[in-house]
Amino acid sequence: MPITLEQFHALRADAGRELLARVAAEPPGEALPLLERYRRAYPAGLVAAALELTRLRRKAAAKFSNAGAMWFTRDGLEMASSEAVAAHVARRFAGLPLVLDLCCGIGGDLLALAAVARRAVAVEQDALALELARANLEAIPHPHPPLPGGEGAATFIHADVTAFIPDGLALMPFCGLLADGGMFIDPSRRAARAAARRPEAYAPPLSWCLALTRYCPRVAITVSPALDFAEIDAEVEVISLHGECKEAVLWLGDFHAVARRATVLPAGAALTDVGPSSDALGEIGAYLYEPDAAVIRAGLLRRLAGELGLRRIDPDIAYLTGEAPVTSPFVTGFQVREIIPWSLKRLNAGLAARRIGRVEIKKRGFPLTPEALRPKLKLTGAAAATLICTRARGTAVVLIADRLSRDGETISTPERQKQ
Ligand SMILES: C[S@@+](CC[C@H](N)C(=O)[O-])C[C@H]1O[C@@H](n2cnc3c(N)ncnc32)[C@H](O)[C@@H]1O
Repeated sequence: MPITLEQFHALRADAGRELLARVAAEPPGEALPLLERYRRAYPAGLVAAALELTRLRRKAAAKFSNAGAMWFTRDGLEMASSEAVAAHVARRFAGLPLVLDLCCGIGGDLLALAAVARRAVAVEQDALALELARANLEAIPHPHPPLPGGEGAATFIHADVTAFIPDGLALMPFCGLLADGGMFIDPSRRAARAAARRPEAYAPPLSWCLALTRYCPRVAITVSPALDFAEIDAEVEVISLHGECKEAVLWLGDFHAVARRATVLPAGAALTDVGPSSDALGEIGAYLYEPDAAVIRAGLLRRLAGELGLRRIDPDIAYLTGEAPVTSPFVTGFQVREIIPWSLKRLNAGLAARRIGRVEIKKRGFPLTPEALRPKLKLTGAAAATLICTRARGTAVVLIADRLSRDGETISTPERQKQ
């Protein structure tokens, strides 16, 4: 059951806090027996809310290091930016006299923004989300890792931003600081999720967000990494966390520094479109490299090839290759042991000759899925390997390879065999 504003207030009162502490100490499991047990001492609605919040706090540990002290609704948690991404994005607001978080939700981004800007103002139309953001900032004024610059406090405004801007904004006492400040907006993308390329279905629509540069010289907008960036006049930063594309940020006005940027977290490394680029295409060499998802999505594959001195294996496939081991936060590397033109018989013979019994399977531009290929493999020995099923200059091939560690050492693959 979704948590209501009344339940939130009840959970913050003494009895609610006591109940939350007791529920949090219970091992995760079936909710019903706990509901039955605690409703003897507490109102049923309060127990249901405490169980829901506890469940959400446990889930939120994947996004927030202090999740156990935070307040969530299911939707609010789902839409919240994770701490690592929010901290990275907030850095560009560091030291500004004012930051406006125009759709603050439960405050995932706000926690980081308020920690770096000298003054933070949060606007949200959902009254419960706004109260949760306020409670979250009270609970975590300084996120982890600590960010320098801000007070960890904010002014909260309950409003529809499309009505608040420009007239309401112009009446605010902090309005004079906007010329040196920044605006951040993370519009709701839920309605647009099925069609990530429909930014006008965002709430507020992307065109409205883009027009915020009329009121502030620095604007950042969070968008889907699947958006078509071709027509957008902004710096596009695509951000990945642990290899997964999390979001893209459009940086406008004074924030607009380069055309494209791929940021890889938690390493914190960034590749931009400025620098050497290479279109080279050639044979698969001794090493194969899988670029980070953010690099591919930001359209920086050629830039990465130029940066690392690598070549592509096929004009349509996002793998790079070279003769030497390369260490870079932007790639996962593999040492190629054998290249087999695609034939199940030849692949099984190669696996048997190397006594390979465990494999992880990677696929890019190959006719079979890993799920379809795996049952056809004859895996007998004790050794492990990575199979990279792909296409090189139009021909399907399977590479038998070993994963490289981040420092360029060859490591065996068994831990990742289920991929
Ligand atoms: C993606 S969520 C923001 C998540 C937030 N950045 C975080 O990290 O927790 C988008 C939020 O925009 C709010 N929203 C959508 N349209 C709005 C509007 N016109 N005015 C104010 N808030 C709005 C939604 O209620 C939702 O909470």
